[in-house]
Amino acid sequence: MATTVLQVGGVPPSIADALTAKYQAMMLPIDAEREDFLAVHANSIRAIVDAGQIPIDADLMGALPNLGAIIHFGAGYETIDVDAARRLGIGVSNTPDVLTDTVADTAIGLMLMTMRRLGAAERYVRAGRWPVDGPYPFGHDVTGSRFGILGLGRIGSAIAHRLTGFNCPIAYHNRHELPGSGYRYASSAVDLAKSVDVLVVATSGTMDGPPLVNRDVLEALGPDGYLINIARGSLVDEEALVQLLAQGRLAGAGLDVFAHEPVVPQQLYEMDNVVVLPHVGSATARTRAAMAELVLHNLDEYLTNNTLSTPVVALSRR
Ligand code: 8YV
Repeated sequence: MATTVLQVGGVPPSIADALTAKYQAMMLPIDAEREDFLAVHANSIRAIVDAGQIPIDADLMGALPNLGAIIHFGAGYETIDVDAARRLGIGVSNTPDVLTDTVADTAIGLMLMTMRRLGAAERYVRAGRWPVDGPYPFGHDVTGSRFGILGLGRIGSAIAHRLTGFNCPIAYHNRHELPGSGYRYASSAVDLAKSVDVLVVATSGTMDGPPLVNRDVLEALGPDGYLINIARGSLVDEEALVQLLAQGRLAGAGLDVFAHEPVVPQQLYEMDNVVVLPHVGSATARTRAAMAELVLHNLDEYLTNNTLSTPVVALSRR
């Protein structure tokens, strides 16, 4: 049977197993063998399944004349050139909604850990310091702090909703104001940062271009301000962030994502006002299973009915 499904980069085992068992999917070679592979198989590929580990660019799409859909594992799809997909008539799907609550939960945990220094406090106990050095230094109140959400989309809104339980005034910045959101709109990221105690990054990532949270935004947040990022590392000027933290010009940061994962700037390891997590935003068994199920559902829908349940680029001519 001709191969119709191509796996690009690693995907969770449950997806990889299903791709092999049900579709006899093949894996795109990453090295010099890629060209030979494409010479033999390019015409038979109708769908790609990926999890963002390898960029899917216009060259790869162009090399697959019968590619009709890219089925992506993950809500963020910045590793896929969606403009090229649109141009070439290739549909793209992602896995939104099923991870919204879990990622929002992570944001709240990260924010509590950072502002109350819970991770550092726990390390203090584990190091046997409590009986020796006495009570642990005070943290900062979460309740009542002013929050700014950069990106009031599905995940940003779920974070905002949770924060209302902490009696926090909430503002946001999106490209456009969302009438009826009930939250204060700031017309730029700098304006938002200037007016809040905590800036939460929850917007979609991009592959290139300057980071939205640049030095100006971080400086506007100021020495009493906290940054929480559960979106993408590329959205923040990481060098400026590390520098400002080292100089005491930011109060702290809670980071689940980094510019060059899995590499985390070494200087952050030593900072007790910084919480670093290994990109676990959506990492619960139930959520990851739901994401995997949605990937396989989209693939099946495409191959059997020529539809996608959760498209980010609609299917067209192929
Ligand atoms: C996953 C994510 O870790 O959905 C996203 O955009 O960042 C996370 O849920 C990632 O997709 C794993 O590939």
